Amino acid sequence: MHTSTADPCREPDCPFGDPKGLTGALALIAMALKNGGQNKAAIDALDLRPGESVLEIGCGPGMGLRRALRRVGRGGFVAGVDRSPSAAHFTAHAVHRAFFRGQAVAMRAEAADLPFRAALFDKAFAVNSFQFWPDPARALREIERVLAPGGRLVITQRASNPDRPANFAGAAGGVERMGQATILLKQLGWRIIDERCVKDGARLMAASVVAERPV
Ligand SMILES: C[S@@+](CC[C@H](N)C(=O)[O-])C[C@H]1O[C@@H](n2cnc3c(N)ncnc32)[C@H](O)[C@@H]1O
Repeated sequence: MHTSTADPCREPDCPFGDPKGLTGALALIAMALKNGGQNKAAIDALDLRPGESVLEIGCGPGMGLRRALRRVGRGGFVAGVDRSPSAAHFTAHAVHRAFFRGQAVAMRAEAADLPFRAALFDKAFAVNSFQFWPDPARALREIERVLAPGGRLVITQRASNPDRPANFAGAAGGVERMGQATILLKQLGWRIIDERCVKDGARLMAASVVAERPV
């Protein structure tokens, strides 16, 4: 039975939380067109260097992964996972040239069950995805496992200020969700390096937390 919740991001049929079918494809196109600001905010905060390996959790249409690819260059490696097969498919298209060079992969996987060996990645990021994870603590332990010692994670959310609300599901709660992510990261032993907000003019656009993996 479908039960309605106060938070649109918690609705089981939210096309942004698990894109499938035609509405899912339209949602993925909307993400590709509208989430560039959050992707840029996350990747700037991640401070990617040439040659690094990076994982995106909840990669959606793959625009963030493509941006990360440009930063890590030909010597780097990027991997995108998403619980939605449609999203993994979109991402595979977005990075297909790098895939054929052995420099990128896109897979269907849950944040809490990542198909990678331990300590494979230097860095990881998640944009507009954390709010959908059914068990965020388990997902963060799994991200810790696949990050190398000293590895960094950036979690970014679309956000808006109350006096300038954005017309996007979940934007109003973005800063609060980042606060919840930060508290959980601290409880799990991550070191918080930075918490930051990025504006687009006077409008708040993205809220991020930057954390280093527990030793
Ligand atoms: C709003 S979209 C954001 C996509 C992309 N990061 C962007 O900002 O354009 C959220 C994505 O997270 C994925 N997602 C949600 N929960 C997930 C989970 N537990 N594990 C993996 N992916 C998940 C969804 O399928 C969806 O593609």
